Amino acid sequence: MRLKIFIKTYGCQMNERDSEMAAVLLQRRGFTIADCEKQADIIILNTCSVRAKAEEKAIGKMRLLAAGRKKGRKNLIIGAAGCMVQRMQADIFRQVPGLDFALSPSAFAAAGDVIEKVLAGRRPAADFSEGRPAGETNTHFENKVSAFINVLYGCNRHCSYCIVPAVRGREWSRPAAEIIREAAEVVRNGAREIILLGQSILAYGRLNPVWKNEPESPLGFTEPFPRLLEALAAVNGLKRLRFMSSHPSGCTDELARCFGELPAVCPHVHLPLQSGSDRILKMMNRGYTAAEYRGAVARLRRRVPDIAVTTDIIVGFPAETREDFDLTRAFMEEIGFNNAFIFKYNPRPGTKAAELDDDVPSAEKLRRNHVILEEQNRRSLELNRKLLGRECLALIEGRSRRNPDRWSGRTDGNVLAVFEKTDGCRPGGLVRIKINRAEAQTLYGAPC
Ligand code: 5AD
Ligand code: SF4
Repeated sequence: MRLKIFIKTYGCQMNERDSEMAAVLLQRRGFTIADCEKQADIIILNTCSVRAKAEEKAIGKMRLLAAGRKKGRKNLIIGAAGCMVQRMQADIFRQVPGLDFALSPSAFAAAGDVIEKVLAGRRPAADFSEGRPAGETNTHFENKVSAFINVLYGCNRHCSYCIVPAVRGREWSRPAAEIIREAAEVVRNGAREIILLGQSILAYGRLNPVWKNEPESPLGFTEPFPRLLEALAAVNGLKRLRFMSSHPSGCTDELARCFGELPAVCPHVHLPLQSGSDRILKMMNRGYTAAEYRGAVARLRRRVPDIAVTTDIIVGFPAETREDFDLTRAFMEEIGFNNAFIFKYNPRPGTKAAELDDDVPSAEKLRRNHVILEEQNRRSLELNRKLLGRECLALIEGRSRRNPDRWSGRTDGNVLAVFEKTDGCRPGGLVRIKINRAEAQTLYGAPC
């Protein structure tokens, strides 16, 4: 009998991509991937460590599953994967009594081996390996409009609040040829959009050689990422190319040129700001000032004036005063972000910021979160309203969730768009729509 596996994913797109890769590899080993947890013989939770809440949620869920075993689902196998496993290592088995196996992000591709051990009665089983996961090509689901491709693993930036360098390790860039091969393969399998992933993706190729014959020296090559974009934009059949996340230091004229000259590269940059106060940016060890961030956006806008800029903001970082907070608000208004993800600061074990006094009371963090969210909603709505009566190009992803008689997709600026169905349109097609209604997070329109 083929055992059924359900994988539940928390966290970022990298985790989503890891789960997809593991699922495809497990299928190849004879397991079936289940659509829902109820049918599953094995449940794997791919976890995130970026905030304590994400960890608590995953631990709670695993304990619940383990407790459920006493009431009927006796043979259910429960596994944990991802960043939390890397962070906690063997301690995760103490946190979740009854957990059958645990896999670090790098070991997730080898899930089959660990599951075989558990099935052979050797439990709990674990693989905490670090470093580069094994080859990734041919590990995408077929017929998906949009495909994630890993470009850069780990992160060397050491932002003081961030757990990622501890869990995802040192920065390492995949060879360009491997990425280009994978891109061609996913497009052959039906993808029309590729989203390149890396924690600080513009650093691609700066530390290890990525092009054949490139000298070992990090100085041998100054702009490998724009070159990668050029190479990928030439992949036959690819309609859209996106990437995330960016850092102001990588927003060079060369990158701006790619946005301006390569039609496949979507005019959208996700450029986490975190704070508009230089004092806080310094404490965060972000490596730029507000003025440098402003300069980075200006460089991109000189080439592509209406490029969409989205961001991440942390409110309530240690010692953040109301003045610092107001600087962030004013800066957000000045840049005119199209969208923003707001996070309340949360100290993470082992990070530099965790040594600082977490002195902004949680009620004040919540208040700051609300203030920024409200201002951003108003800003997003205003920007979307400017599109009323105008035409946008949307990539059709599928039926709208609320109304199956409509399509849903994304504009090139990455806004969710809902529009009427027309003959001849299918998921994966690009359609020109005229916008007739605008909300903060959604545009509505009709094909024209
Ligand atoms: N507390 C709050 N938010 C955080 N982020 C990362 N670490 C923390 C933390 N310790 C946010 C940042 C990052 C996003 C993915 O999560 O804004 O860009
Ligand atoms: Fe992604 Fe970071 Fe969460 Fe890991 S800790 S899943 S890298 S957001």
